[in-house]
Amino acid sequence: MAQYVMQKSPALHGEVRVQRSKNAVLPMMACCLMTEECIDLAGVPKLTDVDCMAALLSDLGATVTRKNDEMTLCGGGLNGWQAGHNWVERMRASVLVMGPLLARCRKARLNFPGGCAIGTRPIDLHLKGLSLMGASVALSDGCMEARAQEGLKGANIYLDFPSVGATENIMMAATLAQGTTVIENAAKEPEIVDLAHLLERMGARISGVGQSTLVIEGVEKLHGAQYTPMPDRIETGTLMLCAAATGGDVLLMGADGSSLHAVIAKMRECGAVITAQDQGIRVRGGELVGVDVETLVYPGFPTDLQAPMMALLCRAEGTSILTEHIFENRFMQVPQLRKMGASITVRGRNAIVRGVMELHGARVAATDLRAGAALVLAGLTAEGHTTVTDIAHIERGYVDLAGALAALGAPIARVE
Ligand code: UD1
Repeated sequence: MAQYVMQKSPALHGEVRVQRSKNAVLPMMACCLMTEECIDLAGVPKLTDVDCMAALLSDLGATVTRKNDEMTLCGGGLNGWQAGHNWVERMRASVLVMGPLLARCRKARLNFPGGCAIGTRPIDLHLKGLSLMGASVALSDGCMEARAQEGLKGANIYLDFPSVGATENIMMAATLAQGTTVIENAAKEPEIVDLAHLLERMGARISGVGQSTLVIEGVEKLHGAQYTPMPDRIETGTLMLCAAATGGDVLLMGADGSSLHAVIAKMRECGAVITAQDQGIRVRGGELVGVDVETLVYPGFPTDLQAPMMALLCRAEGTSILTEHIFENRFMQVPQLRKMGASITVRGRNAIVRGVMELHGARVAATDLRAGAALVLAGLTAEGHTTVTDIAHIERGYVDLAGALAALGAPIARVE
């Protein structure tokens, strides 16, 4: 199994280009199920989650071809409505084929999704929304089957929580439903805005994009489109935190600060110097001091950057309190960071981090995608050697984290 081996890094220095957003690309790929024509996506990152979605769509009869970073997805040959269990169990985002399949085939069958083990992660809100649109949902043997024999109908849907995935699934389904769908308390994450823009290019009629009430007027047909997804704000944030943690000076080419206000504000509070430049975002490290951080839905601090932020705060002066509001089991990095000498106490949804002078290298395991990124960040600042195992989790969401850091001067390598 592959692992990262690394040593304490000098200050990171130089320029690196950020990848396009994994979380934007995955639902965009599912959109190919809703049209006979093809969708061309540019800048698609080479990630195992992307491969997983491509394989799932191919199983359903879509044709997915990739040339370097360009991917063409054609749903003209769609011949299935049941997603193979092996893909769905591997990746939670597989549930995003549910809305498109229901809209096009009027039926969909999937296993309950898997993915990172960061909480119970139910999908009740997805199912509630699709049910309100006329789908009947049956659950049995770890499977869910939804049918809308008369086709989906527009509905008024209030989400008890602004779930990203539920908003995406319902929005996609609603574009081909009969009549108007209103989603209240919809998620406002930039990836949802990006998805809405692709759907609009495909002929969908959506208003309220980026706001908490989305109004979608169903159309009879969607057509093909070309689209370049947004830069990956989580990869950007991770690299920004790595730069600051090492006291470096790094330009993140192609990064977009407009989706990272909360992260930039917190990093500045912590002592980093961050400036927007024409080509991207420049980050310079300073003396780091502890800050309190609460994860929230957008535009709040993203839960996906809580673990890397914690790793940075392990060596910041003073005490920091991190509060995780989005997922109930997202402190899986803590035991691993403690192995490296971090002083962290977890009390329910709060983690109290007392800054230490020094972390020391250790053999640590990536338990999930973002926890893995946190360990890499900690390894950059720890005395001696660090080995991060189970990096398959990291490779679900970062194209080549070790390569990007090595290009900035970090002594890190991926070894089999
Ligand atoms: C997406 C992102 C993930 C990010 C998360 C929150 C993708 C592929 N993944 O995940 O990286 O961490 O948003 O920003 O885009 N919930 C329910 N019922 C539901 C759906 C969700 O209770 O039907 C709960 C979840 O258990 C969780 C919270 O809502 O506690 C947030 O989940 P959600 O916003 O749906 O996240 P995902 O779409 O899974």
